[in-house]
Amino acid sequence: MPERTAAAQTYNAGLAAELEAARDELARRDAYLEEFRSGVFRMIRELDASETELAEKCRGLQEAQEQLAHTSKLTALGELSAALAHELNQPLTVIKGLSQHLLRGAAPDAPEYEKLKLITDASAKMEVVIKHLRVFARGDGVKQGLVDLNAVIEDALLIVRELLTSRAIEISLNLAPLPVVMGCAGRLEQVILNIASNARDAMHANGGVFRIATKTVERGGKPFAVMSFSDTGGGIPPDAVPRIFDPFFTTKEPGKGTGLGLSISYGIVKEHRGVLTVENDPGRGCAFHITLPAAP
Ligand SMILES: Nc1ncnc2c1ncn2[C@@H]1O[C@H](COP(=O)(O)OP(=O)(O)OP(=O)(O)O)[C@@H](O)[C@H]1O
Ligand SMILES: [Mg+2]
Repeated sequence: MPERTAAAQTYNAGLAAELEAARDELARRDAYLEEFRSGVFRMIRELDASETELAEKCRGLQEAQEQLAHTSKLTALGELSAALAHELNQPLTVIKGLSQHLLRGAAPDAPEYEKLKLITDASAKMEVVIKHLRVFARGDGVKQGLVDLNAVIEDALLIVRELLTSRAIEISLNLAPLPVVMGCAGRLEQVILNIASNARDAMHANGGVFRIATKTVERGGKPFAVMSFSDTGGGIPPDAVPRIFDPFFTTKEPGKGTGLGLSISYGIVKEHRGVLTVENDPGRGCAFHITLPAAP
């Protein structure tokens, strides 16, 4: 009997050891599984992060690509403009001069009077296009110097005031002291005139408010001068926004717009190492912001 008890005890002890070993093994597997699971989670988190990073990089690349396409389009157009303006100016002077001469000699009830008038009007319109092209072409008498943007705005206002108030458009001015920038006051004034004439076109039917504001901002520790122009003209149709800086893009009826105003402005701001951005509020209005680096 004691023999059987001893055998049973040995057997039990064996079982207990096996159980203990099995428990240890289970705990080891549990720990392994836990480690495996947190490893998988870490990998998923890392994958998520790199996917977001990749998406951001892709977006950045796409923007850079669009900018590059835009800049090279503008450079090509700049070269073409100089040649075109030069070639067109000569024959246009002849057409304009002769048609004006004939018009002066014609009686208002003569059959050719209306046709001559159409020719002189058309040549006047062409002259505006050529003037646009000239400004756009590189090296059009660009005088570089230190520019006070608030003074450029005041100068532009001499023309802008007349342009807007005759259409019942109110002007609101909010000019803050600005650092001077390096550039050409005449070309920057051209940008303001282009933006103001677009605002006039957007508001000419119902009047509205054209707001001009300036401020200084800091980017990467460096000061920048910002000029903002906003209107209450109903804004830009959302599908047109990506194209407004494209040369010859216009939503105006034939004969009303060349579609060069904003692309020229974009080029001029670029020349000044600045950025021209638009903020659109469909149905209400839009704002154009020009950010230029302060002169060193
Ligand atoms: N303030 C604005 N409000 C609404 N739409 C605008 C405004 N400014 C520009 N746009 C849109 O952008 C287009 C392009 O403007 P851009 O100045 O380049 O050419 P344009 O005004 O049509 O022609 P141009 O400047 O030769 O008179 C306009 O036709 C218009 O659709
Ligand atoms: Mg315009």
